[in-house]
This record gives sequence, C-alpha cells and structure tokens, in this order.
Amino acid sequence: MYRQIEESQTLLINTQSKDLELQKKKIIKFGFGQSPFMPPKLVLEALKSSVNHKEYTSVQGDLNLRDNISKFHEAHNGLKVLPENILLAPGSKILLFNILMSFKKADVFIATPAWVSYAPQAKLAGHNIIKLKTSFEERWRISPKTIRDTAKYKKSNVSIMIINYPGNPDGLTYSEEELKELAKVAKELNILVISDEIYGLLDHNLNHKSFANYYPEKTITTTGLSKWCGAGGWRFGAAFLYENIEPEFKQALIGIGSETYSCAPTPVQMAAKVAYKEYDKTLEYLRLQTTILKEIGDYCAEKLNRSKIRVHAPQGGFYLFPDFSFHQEKLNNNGINTSNKLCSQLLKDTGVVLLPASAFGFEQDYLAARLAYVDFQQPTDALFDIEVDCPNVTQGIDKICNWILNL
Ligand SMILES: Cc1ncc(COP(=O)(O)O)c(C=O)c1O
Repeated sequence: MYRQIEESQTLLINTQSKDLELQKKKIIKFGFGQSPFMPPKLVLEALKSSVNHKEYTSVQGDLNLRDNISKFHEAHNGLKVLPENILLAPGSKILLFNILMSFKKADVFIATPAWVSYAPQAKLAGHNIIKLKTSFEERWRISPKTIRDTAKYKKSNVSIMIINYPGNPDGLTYSEEELKELAKVAKELNILVISDEIYGLLDHNLNHKSFANYYPEKTITTTGLSKWCGAGGWRFGAAFLYENIEPEFKQALIGIGSETYSCAPTPVQMAAKVAYKEYDKTLEYLRLQTTILKEIGDYCAEKLNRSKIRVHAPQGGFYLFPDFSFHQEKLNNNGINTSNKLCSQLLKDTGVVLLPASAFGFEQDYLAARLAYVDFQQPTDALFDIEVDCPNVTQGIDKICNWILNL
C-alpha cells in the first residue's frame, strides 16, 4: 500500500551519532556533509533584517535576486543564464526531484558512486535507473564509453543523466577535456543533463567549469547556498534552465513548484540577494574556505594512503571516498564483509562516523566509505595549524589508521 522509501542515509547517520553523543561518547563527525563555515557577516545581517518579509514571492523567486545570481555566475565562470530561466526553491534537492517529476517516464543515468538521493528520487518519480559504473582507477569519473555501452538498457525515449562535480562522495572534479567528451556523447544520444554543481564554488583551485558551457542545448545546472555559503538549513537552491527550454517543461517545473513548496523562504531570498551581490567581493570568503578545505583534505588523504587506505586527494568540496580493499582479508577475518559492518564496527570501536559505500550505489561487499572532513571549527584565517585548530580531524584520521592497523 505504501511507497517503499527509507530515511535518507545521510540524515540517519546523523541521528545515530547524536544518540551516541547523548550517551556521552566522543564522536568524530565525518558522516554528515555539513559545512563548518558560517555565511559571511553581511549575509547573516541581511537575514536578520529581513524577518518582516513575510510575503510569498512568485514560484520562480524574486526577480532582482535572480538577476544577481545570473551576474554572479557569469563572473564566476562565464556561465550565461537569463534571470527568466532561473528557478529558486527551498534547496536544490527539491529542484532535482521536481526536474525528475516533470517527466512521466524516463531513463535516468546515475553514476556509482553518486550522492545518496538521486536514485531514491528517480525511483519515486517512477523512472528506470541505469547505473554507470566507474572505478577507483578512473578516479570515479563517468566515461563516455560506459554511457554508450549502457544506453542499450534504455526503456523510454527520454534520457536524463545526473552528473555531480566536485563530487559527493569523492571530492573529485572533471577536467575540461573530460567535460567536453561527456558533452559530446550527451549531445549524440540526446540526453538531458542535470549538472549538480552545488560544490562548484568550493573547487579548491577556484577553477570550476560549468557543464552548461559545453552543452548549453540541454543542461540544467543546480546550485544553492547550502555548501559554499554554509547555509544548508536556510534551504535555498537554484536551477539554471537552458535557453530554449521547451515551454511545457518549464511550465511543469513551475507547476510542480506551485503545488509543493510555493516559493523559497522570502527572508532567505533577501539574504541571498546579498550573498550573490558581487562575485569579486565573495572571492576572499571562498579563497579562505577552499585554502582550508584543500589543506585538511590533502592532510587526511595523505595519512590514509600511508595506512594503505587508498584514496584520491580531493579537488573540491569536503569529501573523501577511502577504499579499504587492501585490508579486505583482515577485515573479513574479523567478520567485516560489508561497508555497513565496516562503518558500524568503526563507529563502535573508535567513535568515528563514516557513511558506507552501499549508500552511494555499491554492492554491500565493497569495502569503502565516505568521509566528510568537516568536524572542525571555522579557523579565522588561512594560517592555521591542522594539529592545533582541527583536533577532531587529526584524531579521527589517526583513529581510523590505528584501528585498521590493530585489527
Ligand atoms: C551532491 C549534492 N547535491 C544536492 C544536495 C542538496 O543540497 P540542498 O538541497 O541543501 O541544496 C546535496 C546535499 O548534501 C549534495 O551533497
């Protein structure tokens, strides 16, 4: 009678670690992907002074704000999107869902690994999921060959592919060459691409390239304030539609929005106006964050690799996707033969929270997990000392390495 849908695994792990904390256990929170950074002061002030904005906006959102967002993203990486093709909502998650819901039937290409919510959303929308396998050696990138090879599993004449970079759970991005190759195959197979660029502004080299610049015909980009602005709980997301979007598609998106969320919270839209005011003024804030994130991410990756927990150094955002396969025999001998058991035993023995690879589309027996290196207080400048300023991060990594060593 009921739809089968479990609570999103990222939220579930947060609840589990909170339970352990209530029991006064020291928990290292590498599970939940929440930014440790505060929104800029001016943005905080703008939200405070906007509480009297109790009115609804249009479903698409405040026009001046959409104008700011359009200019901001053009300055950021040359992405040109008209304000009338920007859709605002309470978070990008609901936009991703509504894009999928706009189609009666579609094939949805999703990479493994991929963010936990794509597949459940596609399933809820009644679509056919086509998994795109990737590998550690390929840096978890989708290859054009895999897309071509899997296209034979298509069941309908609508194809959607979701890409996400810098990626959750891998922290990796695509090179310009790789984006061009992906764009070529998407065009060839007439695929609508949803490019989830929620971590784009957290590219560690501040050099994010938007997919829509290579495939403007049929790319919808999603982004928002949750990650680069540290404001996940404010619930603010944006979708950039392509220029000649089919009027029926745009109508469906606005229609579904009007029947579900109505509009993004108006005070948050007012604060977003300040956040998106000028890209150049935001650069300093982004530079500080990305310098810190890069340093911490590199530190964690290096230490894990030294313990033969292989992982790629991150290029953006705040995730790593460590692979424990080198230790498989030892883990199996200790009864640990699934990523779920790996994470629950690690949590029990050390208090370190990771998310199992199975949540990201893998078979149960693949021994990997996602690590969000966000358990630290925002340092005041880029001249910080990881050992001193991020004790939970360094302790957490040491705990994982020692655990595997002494197992
Ligand atoms: C890859 C990815 N996409 C989308 C989202 C949704 O973000 P929001 O709905 O807060 O904009 C998240 C949040 O964790 C994410 O990691």
